[in-house]
Amino acid sequence: MQIVLATRNAGKLREVRTILAGLPIGLVALPDSVELPPEGDDYAANAIDKAVAAARATGHLAIADDSGLEVDALGGAPGPFSARYGADDASRIARMLDALEGVADADRGARFVCVAAWATPDGRSGTARGVCEGRILRARSGAGGFGYDPIFAVGVGAAARSMAELAAAEKNAVSHRGRAFRMLAAMLPGITAAR
Ligand code: IMP
Repeated sequence: MQIVLATRNAGKLREVRTILAGLPIGLVALPDSVELPPEGDDYAANAIDKAVAAARATGHLAIADDSGLEVDALGGAPGPFSARYGADDASRIARMLDALEGVADADRGARFVCVAAWATPDGRSGTARGVCEGRILRARSGAGGFGYDPIFAVGVGAAARSMAELAAAEKNAVSHRGRAFRMLAAMLPGITAAR
């Protein structure tokens, strides 16, 4: 079975491929010709809109995600606006570190949220949500992953590491995207059977 992943983010494509490896599916990249809809302020609506656009355009079952970083000291911002928090990963990270300048360790709590969505060409759709709790570091650390990974730490005490310091499999085991897409994977037999 061919499933289209509706993203233009190479980091997400790589991660979702790994998370869903082992399933009897072929995950295909979104054709360049398919336009993705603009994003609003709701993870689930954004993820469903992307999956629906890809399913309609390609005629295949499509999956997509929308994700964001919710920072306690910023009242949950930037959340669904995380991609729009700066022009690129480096400027988004710099802005976040600036915004949390002087914030104590105990108040640097944050979480990554991911809503994974599926949509079929015949108009059905659904979602699965994953969350990963952590905190925002005072400086970048590590070279793996993508996005905000170098300043987002998981684990406590001596075991704390930034997501950019984790091996891909370690990140996927605890990440918001890993949790959401493993839940979505469990839904696939029901989605493909109900035709
Ligand atoms: P979107 O889901 O494409 O809207 O992306 C949301 C924003 O959060 C982008 O800036 C991503 O780089 C960032 N982001 C999403 N998932 C992750 C992750 O797993 N690690 C680090 N940053 C992420």
